[in-house]
Amino acid sequence: MNRLVCLFVMLFAVTPVAIAGEADTRTVIELSPQHRALVLNEMRQFLSGLQQITAALSRDDMDAVTEAARSLGVVMSHQVPADLKQALPQGFRTLGHQVHSQFDQIALDAESLGDSSHALSQLGNTLTQCVACHNTYQIRLSNR
Ligand code: HEC
Repeated sequence: MNRLVCLFVMLFAVTPVAIAGEADTRTVIELSPQHRALVLNEMRQFLSGLQQITAALSRDDMDAVTEAARSLGVVMSHQVPADLKQALPQGFRTLGHQVHSQFDQIALDAESLGDSSHALSQLGNTLTQCVACHNTYQIRLSNR
């Protein structure tokens, strides 16, 4: 269980830029209110999917792990409108695509191997990408 706790501490780890009183120096992505809402909604789907995956892992229910991981796969990014994709920097899109692809791989392996410790270690690697992106970018509303 301690490894799981560590994963979540990593996910929202306090980084130097996040220390109270210091300026937020992360790269700003300016989005319209609608686009910002879409991105943050996708983020909450990530968090909710992670909750389902970890709960399923604790029960060793690999079918549920497969289903939850698949829902966070590349299929999720197909819902992103073309004009939002254009508004996002290339680095953001690359990282986002990697995370979706990793969830697809977690689903494939969970289904074929049924090995919860393998899935957990894959999940740990994926969370590193969540952390990397949160350390790099912030979203601000555009004036347009
Ligand atoms: C490609 C970049 C990127 C990736 C990958 C990413 N995030 Fe985010 N996420 C962001 C940005 C940018 C924000 C807004 C942060 C800000 O403006 O301070 C955000 C915000 C969030 C929020 C807050 C949502 C809200 O309603 O305010 C949650 C929760 C979140 N992310 C979870 C996750 C999880 C879990 C993962 C990994 C499975 C993940 N994110 C992967 C970029 C990313």
